[in-house]
Parts: sequence; structure tokens; C-alpha cells
Amino acid sequence: MDDLRHLIDIPHIWTRLEQVEGRLLELSSSESQYTTEISQHLLRAGGKRLRPLLALLAATLGPADDRRAVEAAAAVELIHVGSLYHDDVIDESDTRRGAPSVNANWNNTLAVLAGDFLISRGSEVAATYLDLESVRMLAITYTELVEGQTLEFRLIGRLDHDLTVYRKLIDQKTASLIRTSAYVGARAGDASENVVETLTLWAFELGRVFQIADDALDLVATTDLLGKPAGADIREGTFTLPVLLAARGKEGPRITELLGQPPPYPEEAVEEVIGLVNEGGYVDRALSVALEHAAVAGQALAGLAVGETTRVLERMGGYLIERVEAARQTL
Ligand code: IPE
Ligand code: IPE
Ligand code: MG
Ligand code: MG
Repeated sequence: MDDLRHLIDIPHIWTRLEQVEGRLLELSSSESQYTTEISQHLLRAGGKRLRPLLALLAATLGPADDRRAVEAAAAVELIHVGSLYHDDVIDESDTRRGAPSVNANWNNTLAVLAGDFLISRGSEVAATYLDLESVRMLAITYTELVEGQTLEFRLIGRLDHDLTVYRKLIDQKTASLIRTSAYVGARAGDASENVVETLTLWAFELGRVFQIADDALDLVATTDLLGKPAGADIREGTFTLPVLLAARGKEGPRITELLGQPPPYPEEAVEEVIGLVNEGGYVDRALSVALEHAAVAGQALAGLAVGETTRVLERMGGYLIERVEAARQTL
């Protein structure tokens, strides 16, 4: 994405990212051409590469500058992409990264297997190049992703759960891997304990901002911009912060009437809910929650020496929120 390129104006990071791209293709190769093609499908389809970029940025805050940063970045993207293969099976999604999803192009069985293949390769590269604590953190993170996806599945079609449950969900399914990307990157750069801890705290808050912004995007952006259908969360019966807030407001009774049973919902019901949520100002309220997390993230950075990397990190939370505003204006 061009705007990330603009935000991260450090040429060294982009040179490193090209090395990561090469490693991703090597690591996703199998002795079977068939497996290779399926495993590389989404890697070749694009994606923002946010997690590898965070790992590379974090690594620059330590004294080391060797291939471990590239390997750490590759490991987190492999785990991310593997989890997207599984996610599209769970969500029965047909598109991803502007391309047909793996389950749509092949089938669920192959999507599950190729997802496993990518995640195992991510673990293998971590065990080969990274320290034991990083390997351990990646394993913990994968457990969290699975717990988050399971929690989300249990909540399908439910509007009544506490907002702390929504928070737990986004922490597990998204903030965990974003946090870990910074953690493994910082350790790969031999950053001090204090720097590792600071970046881990920062990235966890950033991960919360990222998911809240992503949830808002689903309600304000076009299908074209998202690379997947807009409004998909509601159609799946996954009710995110703006919808949960609206269900607690004056629109509550109407929303409960429209979404009170499990999916599928008529298309008119989905459209009406999207309208109620936007017009009631609930996207803005969700974005102000994101802004609070961005502020906490910013405060976490206060102890770091000011430099080109910290300047980029400071702007990242704001950038994720501005993406939503920009998407809204192009409607
Ligand atoms: C998608 O992540 C999954 C979520 C956590 C919302 P990204 O939005 O980072 O997806 P890519 O990597 O750019 O495709
Ligand atoms: C993506 O979740 C998968 C994980 C975060 C593990 P979602 O289902 O919320 O994201 P999209 O909308 O498919 O990218
Ligand atoms: Mg999904
Ligand atoms: Mg999902």
C-alpha cells in the first residue's frame, strides 16, 4: 500500500521487506508444485505486510542488523497468512486481498491444509533463526488467535454481550499477533529488555487500534477498497463495536428486530443496520475508542530515544484511524 510506504519513510525498511518477500516465497515452497501453488496464492495476491513491517521497524531499535530481522518478519507473515486461509474457511469468504480466497478457488480441505503448511513453516523458520523466547511467544500467540476465533464463533448472531468481551476478542484475534510482531522483531535486533517491553506494550495497543479501525472500515468503505465485500461482518453475524454500541442506543430495538436471530439476514436488513450505525454516529464513537488506544500507545513510546523509527511508530496509530476517515470520504 502506497500510504504505508509514505508513512514508513525509511529506505532501509523497504530494502529489508524485499528480502522478506524472497524468503516468503522460499518458505512457502513445497516439493509438490501443487502444494506450492496453493500456499503461495495469497502471498502473491498482495496484502499490506503490516506485521513484517512492524517486526523490521522494531528490529532497528536494537544494535544488531542481520538476517534474523528478516526471518522474524517472514515468520509473523506466514502465521498471519495461514490464519487468513483458515479464517476464510470459517467465514465462508470468497475473496481476500482482492483475489478469490483459497477455499473459493480450491476447497475448504485444501485451504485448511495449506494454512497449516504456512503456519508450520512459520514455526520452523522461528525455531531455526530466533531465540527460544520468541519461539515460545509465537506459539502462545497462535493459541490466542485460535481462542479469539473460537470466541468470535460462539458470539455469532449475539448483540447482548458485554463490551469487555468484544475487547477480549480483538485482543486475542488481532492485537496478539501485532504485539508479537514487534516483540520478535525487537529481539531479533538484540534490543534491550526495556526496549522490547516498551515496543510490546505499544504494539498491543496499536493492534487494538488496528482491529477497531478495520471493524469501522467494514461499515464505511467500498468493496473495491477493502478487497472483500463491505458489510461482511454483519452478514456473517459478527457484530463489532459500532454495531454493539448502536444496539445499546436508541436504535437498539430496531437493530434487535433486524438482527435478533442468527444469520443469514435479508440484504435490506444489513443495509438498514449499516445506515442506522453510520447516521447514529456510532462509527465515530468507535473511532474515538480507537483514538484512546492510540494515545496509550503513544504514551508507551515516551521512554524511547527519539529517532527516525520512533517518529514513524508515533504516527502509526493516527494513520490507522485516518485510513477510515479517508475511506469514508471516497464513498
Ligand atoms: C486482516 O489483516 C485480518 C485482520 C486482523 C483484520 P490485514 O488487514 O493486515 O490483512 P492484509 O495482510 O493486509 O491482507
Ligand atoms: C481475520 O479476522 C483473521 C484473524 C484475525 C485471525 P476477520 O474475519 O475479522 O477479518 P477479515 O475481515 O476476514 O479480514
Ligand atoms: Mg474473515
Ligand atoms: Mg473471521
